[in-house]
Parts: sequence; structure tokens; C-alpha cells
Amino acid sequence: MTGADGDVRSRSDGDVRSRSEEVPSRSEEVARIERDAADAIGAATTSAALAEVQTAVLGKRSALALAHRDLAALDADARRTAGKVLHDVRTRLETLVAARAQELGAAERAAMLEQDRLDLTEVTESEVRSAISRGRLHLVNQTQRELEDVFVAMGFTVAEGPEAETDWYNFEALNIPPAHPARSMWDTFYLELGQPETVVLRTHTSPVQIHLMEDSPPPVHAVMPGRCYRRETPDARHLAVFHQMEGLVVDHGITFADLAGTIETFTTRYFGADIHSRLRPGYFPFTEPSAEVEVTCTICRGAGCRTCSGTGWVELAGCGMVDPAVFEAVGIDPEEWTGFAFGFGIDRCAQMRHVIADMRVLTENDVRFLRQF
Ligand code: DAH
Repeated sequence: MTGADGDVRSRSDGDVRSRSEEVPSRSEEVARIERDAADAIGAATTSAALAEVQTAVLGKRSALALAHRDLAALDADARRTAGKVLHDVRTRLETLVAARAQELGAAERAAMLEQDRLDLTEVTESEVRSAISRGRLHLVNQTQRELEDVFVAMGFTVAEGPEAETDWYNFEALNIPPAHPARSMWDTFYLELGQPETVVLRTHTSPVQIHLMEDSPPPVHAVMPGRCYRRETPDARHLAVFHQMEGLVVDHGITFADLAGTIETFTTRYFGADIHSRLRPGYFPFTEPSAEVEVTCTICRGAGCRTCSGTGWVELAGCGMVDPAVFEAVGIDPEEWTGFAFGFGIDRCAQMRHVIADMRVLTENDVRFLRQF
């Protein structure tokens, strides 16, 4: 575009405007009415607003209606021509209103449907909140339940006993007399010394065996999970508060083969076939013979590390054939009944199964650790 063109155009625009402002012709007036009306129709954003616009541009007091009335002053021919022009304007405006009404109606229906829609997959705010704060079982509790499941599937029942025990249940009935050197294996927290009885925080779940045999006559096939306490300096494999799963089977003709088979079945069911276990001769006052159950250390896969003290194996349980002295303590005839018992460390099972190098993380309540399970 050249400067000269621009000048020409602006000059002629100015001429047209000044002329029309002075004496607007009838057809210019009608064109303006139509333009204004069309703009107003287009600008209506709701059906309600459109209804008002419709009255304003097509109603009795609209500019169009007034223009109609003005036709009366014209002669017949001019009236007919001008009347037709106005009629055409009205028809076009009515068409515009109808189209806009349809447009707005559709949009409003869609918005209403959207608003009323029931989204059955929607996650509500309260669900989000409860998902955030929903807790979970501690790994040790989860492990306890899994161990219970394995033994229940093998025909065992589940029993529990108190955490505070008298000297009789924790030691004497289990063939550990006062001052016996074996007591040093189970130093603990004493709640009461002597008078009338010595009460300790139980050092193992074995006393539950005694409660069970006192309370109901054989046969017995039970596991007994629970918390135990020992005077222990915590390290990678030991806690002063820990958990055990005791087992006791008393029946006719129970042999060491039943014990070994039960241990084997348990370890493969809980750990899977790729973790190896072994039984080694051991000593416990309440079983004869006794054995220790060990599994390949999962931290070093048997190579030897800090967790297994360089041995490649981790002790999981003690076990053995119930000593006749224990049967006699609870009034069961050892000539008629035989049995086996075992005691697993639940925390140890969790540690080996989930490859946890240091058991102390189980008590530290660090959610970054706990959330993983
Ligand atoms: N009570 C033993 C301990 O805490 C573990 C144990 C060994 C339990 C042999 C038993 C058993 O039932 O027969 O070290």
C-alpha cells in the first residue's frame, strides 16, 4: 500500500460519514437497525438474555416496529416497497434469533448434562484423604500373620499367652531350675523378685506350651506367636524386644522325623525353594534331643557378612523333642505321649525373607522403610 492510496481512502471515508451523519437515508436507517439487531442477537450468551434481545429487536416497541409505523406517512407505492424491505429484515432477524436460540440451547443442555453426570469412577476428596492417612500393618505383624497362615494350613491352631510370666512358667516348668547355668541364656527384665513369686517379662514363647498343656489334655497341635524380652545389646541380628512363634505337637508316636518334616515343609513354604535350611544339634533344657534351624544368610547368600557374623548361616529357630521332665511338670505321662516343639524368631524370618541387613530398622519407625512392605 502506498501513502497516496491511504490518503485517498481516508478522505473518501470521511466524506461518506459526514454525509450520512447529516441526513441518514431511509435505507441506511433500516440497514443500521438490522446491523444493531444482528449484533445484539449474536452478543446474547444465554437463552434468557436472547429472549430479552428478541423482544427488544422484534417486539412492539422495537426500532423495526417503529419503522413499520412510519410507513403510514408514505404513498402507496413507496409503502409497498419499503414494507417489503422491512418484512425481509424481520424475516432475516427471526432466522438469526432461531439459530442463536438453538446454539445456546444446545450449549446449555450440554452444560447441564455435564453438571448432572454421575461419574462412578470418581475418587472423592474424602477417599483421597483416607488413602493418604490409611495405615498398614508393621512388617513384623505381617510376617506373624503369614507364618500363622503357613502353620494353620498344616493343621496347627493358634494360641497366645501372657507377656509377664512367673519364674515357674518361664523357667522351672521348662526344666530350667533356679541357679541352673542355662538361665544365663535368658537373662531378662525382672518385674518382681521372690515374694510371693518372681515375675519376669517372658524371654521366649515357650511358657505358652506349659499353659496350653495345663489347660487342655493332649493331643496338642498349636503355634503360639508373641512378644518376648531379653537383656540384650541390640545388634544387626538381636533386639531386646522381639517376637517368636512357638510350636508344640503332642500326640501318640511323634518322632524326630515328624519334627524335621514339619520344619522342612515350613521353610520351603515360607521362604521358597531357593533358600536352604539345615538342622544342627543344639542344646535347650526343655527338649532332648535339641536342634537349631538355620537358613542361608540372604544378605550375603552364604558368603559371610556382618549380619551372619561371617558364617553364611542365620539361626531362625530352636527345636527338639519335648523333654520328659516338661511332660512331668504338667502331669502328662511321657510313657504314653511324645512330642516336638520349636520356637522361631519372627523378626528373623522377616529379616531373612526381605533381605534386611540390620534388624534394628524394625524398631526405628522410619516410614520410608516401613512403607516398602
Ligand atoms: N525358647 C527357645 C529360645 O527362645 C527356642 C526354642 C528352642 C523353643 C527349642 C522351643 C524348642 O520350643 O523346642 O531360645
